[in-house]
Amino acid sequence: MNDTFLKACRGEKTDYTPIWMMRQAGRYLPDYQKIRGKVSFLELCKTPELCVEVTMQPVDILNMDAAILFSDILILMEAMGAPLQFHEGKGPIFPETIRDQAALDKLIIPDAEEATGFVMETIRLLRGVLKVPLIGFAGAPFTCATYLIEGGSSKVFWETKKMMFTRPLLFHNLMGKITKSTILYLQAQARAGAQALQLFDSWAGVLAPRDFKTFALPYVEKIFADLKDTGVPLIYFANNGATLLDYSAKSGADVIGLDWRINIGDAIKRVGKKAVQGNIDPFALLLPKDELRARIGQLLADAARAYGHIFNLGHGIHQLTPVNQAKIAVDAVHELSSR
Ligand code: CP3
Repeated sequence: MNDTFLKACRGEKTDYTPIWMMRQAGRYLPDYQKIRGKVSFLELCKTPELCVEVTMQPVDILNMDAAILFSDILILMEAMGAPLQFHEGKGPIFPETIRDQAALDKLIIPDAEEATGFVMETIRLLRGVLKVPLIGFAGAPFTCATYLIEGGSSKVFWETKKMMFTRPLLFHNLMGKITKSTILYLQAQARAGAQALQLFDSWAGVLAPRDFKTFALPYVEKIFADLKDTGVPLIYFANNGATLLDYSAKSGADVIGLDWRINIGDAIKRVGKKAVQGNIDPFALLLPKDELRARIGQLLADAARAYGHIFNLGHGIHQLTPVNQAKIAVDAVHELSSR
């Protein structure tokens, strides 16, 4: 059993810096494409045996030090009663947007085993075969809310901010409902065997710090507070979150995920006695081998004073990334951090 990742999360000494990559189970892998050629993305998410297979792929092929459950943050929104579709090349779509009280009232707070038993089953199966720790996850409430309110992905978040600023009570009630569902969902993942839990806040960076503090942070804090007694490391990743770092550091997470827009050494000074996870630009994986290795060496040096460091990309791996480039990065982290 390789528990390097868990040790780094807890700030314990490790023989080398562990690495995994956000979105490591996915389209850049030909082995993933082979499975996706036969089933839709949502079917894949709901078939535990296939989820196990794709979760294992990056561990087996690339030698990652942690596995992340194959699923999607929007699976829980669907379980709450929001019909979800994925259109090829267009991303997720919620045809029934949540923009008024009547729509909000229709959302339920699901029993995690009943509504998302396939996720829990995937976790149980994975724990029987994995030799590295398994990370469970959910979307942070703000990020999930944007998808429900906008009806899909967005660039300007007009509807989301309109609700925040003109109907704050409705917005807070939606956030509260997502928060309750998320707590039950992640508690169930921990019971099923998830050994760390990550909240993905992909869109937190579109908020001004004061609005993040009012409209998003309290719900992240509530989730982490209620997950504390699971005993597993809690990770918070706020994408584009450098300006929110002081808040993230106080969110109750044990590990702070960093995107690539901040120097990791500067971030370490600001988060205090907490492990950090990150943070090379996912596109830097395209660098020639020598330059990629040098950049990784520099990042490891910059992170030398971290309470704990888990190497990762600053966001998900891009689907056009050559697998071999990802392999160069994993090997470089293992070799250059070996102590
Ligand atoms: O990290 C992993 O390898 C585990 C699996 C995972 C997926 N999505 C699989 C997936 C995880 C952790 C996620 C999280 C997720 N999903 C986030 C937060 C992380 C981030 O990237 O910011 C968000 C915002 C989503 C919502 C979502 N799911 C979008 C916007 C899309 C379309 C994206 C695109 O690039 O087209 C998805 C689809 C999705 N989720 C795919 C995968 C492998 C691609 C689906 C396919 O095979 O067609």
